Amino acid sequence: MTDIDVLLTENRKFAPDAAFRRAAHISSRELYDYAAADPVGFWEGMARELAWTTPWTKALEWTPPHAKWFVGGKLNAAYNCVDRHVAGSRRNKAALVWEGEPGDRRTLTYWDLFIEVQKCANMLAALGVKKGDRVVIYLPLVPEAVIAMLGCARIGAIHSVIFGGFSPDSVRDRVNDAEAKIVITADGGYRRGQIVPLKRNVDKALEDCPSVEKVIVVRRRPGAEGDEAFATMQEGRDLWWHRLMARAPSKHEPVPMDAEDVLYILYTSGTTGKPKGIVHTTGGYLTGVTMTTKYVFDLKEDDVFWCTADVGWVTGHSYLVYGPLANGATCVMYEGAPDWPEKDRFWDICERHGVTILYTAPTAIRAFMKWGDQHPQKHDLSRLRLLGSVGEPINPEAWMWYRDVIGGGRCPIVDTWWQTETGAIVISALPGVTETKPGSATFPLPGYSAELVDNSGRIMKTGGGLLAMTRPWPSMLRTIWNDDKRYVQTYFSKWPEHPDYYFAGDGAKRDDDGYFWILGRVDDVLNVAGHRIGTMEVESALVEHPSVAEAAVVGRAHELKGQALAAFVTLREGQHATPALRDELREFVAEKIGAIARPDDILFSADLPKTRSGKIMRRLLRDIAEGRALGDTTTLADPNVVASLKEQYEAQES
Ligand code: PRX
Repeated sequence: MTDIDVLLTENRKFAPDAAFRRAAHISSRELYDYAAADPVGFWEGMARELAWTTPWTKALEWTPPHAKWFVGGKLNAAYNCVDRHVAGSRRNKAALVWEGEPGDRRTLTYWDLFIEVQKCANMLAALGVKKGDRVVIYLPLVPEAVIAMLGCARIGAIHSVIFGGFSPDSVRDRVNDAEAKIVITADGGYRRGQIVPLKRNVDKALEDCPSVEKVIVVRRRPGAEGDEAFATMQEGRDLWWHRLMARAPSKHEPVPMDAEDVLYILYTSGTTGKPKGIVHTTGGYLTGVTMTTKYVFDLKEDDVFWCTADVGWVTGHSYLVYGPLANGATCVMYEGAPDWPEKDRFWDICERHGVTILYTAPTAIRAFMKWGDQHPQKHDLSRLRLLGSVGEPINPEAWMWYRDVIGGGRCPIVDTWWQTETGAIVISALPGVTETKPGSATFPLPGYSAELVDNSGRIMKTGGGLLAMTRPWPSMLRTIWNDDKRYVQTYFSKWPEHPDYYFAGDGAKRDDDGYFWILGRVDDVLNVAGHRIGTMEVESALVEHPSVAEAAVVGRAHELKGQALAAFVTLREGQHATPALRDELREFVAEKIGAIARPDDILFSADLPKTRSGKIMRRLLRDIAEGRALGDTTTLADPNVVASLKEQYEAQES
């Protein structure tokens, strides 16, 4: 049986518990019907839950494939995430409950956040940052990351957060593409007891970034002997965050932003070597994340919400920062690794902080499962009332384990499908309404039109197809930064007869009950541990190495990470395939892109399987990496190449 068959024979169902349902924000299907009858009106209702300084005059302007939502409306994202809670009853409520990997802790109330964000806004303004300027944030998961994002939003600067695991080269490319004026970083961050030298990475990246005027450095290591111990400060360019903040006034009027003004750019992998700067705007994005946080997680006033993602990914943007804070929630933030110092760190955090809603990724769940039940069982997890999953398909076995061992059999699970591009959750159960099936993200939420579409553009109610959005939604990406052509090409050119259909790049199935089962990417993008990696990016990195002539990278199934990277490499004349070179190449990719892109397997080969027109047949390489029987090889220029590759690969495995 294939994975798909296994999924589709999964017929366990879990209905919402009666008590949960009674207390839930949404407990009937009415909202679906209402939203289906008038999707734009539905979204307008959701947008009204935010504070606007000027109301919109037109809810949607749709000139496919470009959408504008809440046209003419003005609001400020930082005001919505902070000020309005301070003005109301949440002034002393904890906004961020943060824990560093070494065990240091900080709690910021909404009032504290209010003061810090205003100071940050003033600090940036004093450095000459203006509305529309780009600020790159390259920080560990510390409260300053959130303060910096909101500080940018407050003055209308566009933030672009880069995950702290990315290498100097990746930072350089993103800084240059965004033409950032300021970079905010830290002397270091902690990961598995080690210090990630962020400032040093920035120094290296900035050797070739002419747009950057100032670097602001957060001191993550107070108490170290002198400020300069972990970061060499460049005269005239580098400034300490704590010194600037100490001088910055604590009152700042938020700048009213047009609903369509850019809130942030976030880079994500695509099918080519160049990452795409996904552009999100203010009004629609905030509406999407606010609505979905409240209803998908059934968020209530006294919940303690922990989204374990880093702010370097879209999940951190939408469900650690903007969604929960716009709803006035208490958010837990943890800097480090889940197995540091022990494999029960997550459960220890859940117990101590009284986490009620946990949102994490299948790759983590599979690791916890492997580490054993004894770790969660050491802790009182009885406060948990809802569990979420995101980033990749969750296999039914991991889903059941999550439900039974972490959720004690009582917490509903929301498996949430969405993307950097969608900005907010699109397909998910509503926990007080939907009967869930392990492994299925269930149905599109109210207001969205996710459909399965076949190659010819026909909508299919059951069976397999491509995932598409047939109508615009408020939190959709607006374009790719500096590359609108690529936006149109990547997302709105799949079905020439439907230039208004958004192509998500995922394949999916719908069963006879209409449930969606996401199968993963259909393009050359892999999903490794919930992170998107373009195979082309890794190939480009490999061929930069002086020993490499040609490289092809494919994905293979991996027990924990979902997918792993397998690289097939041909060497230049005179180079020799050695275990040392293999290690060197793996490190080389990690240095070029970041550790998440380090290939698991590297196979040296004299030749790669190519068609007669010279195209590498990745399909065959995937068969080899997966250990499957080879598919059709008749179109190959030299059929012998694959047979010998397969033999080598198998020899390497054994
Ligand atoms: O393939 C889908 C997978 O992750 C991709 C989006 O990746 P990214 O933009 O990095 O955003 C990740 C967090 C939203 C999708 O195209 N994906 C995400 N969530 C799920 C998923 N696949 C299956 N089930 C999910 N719940």
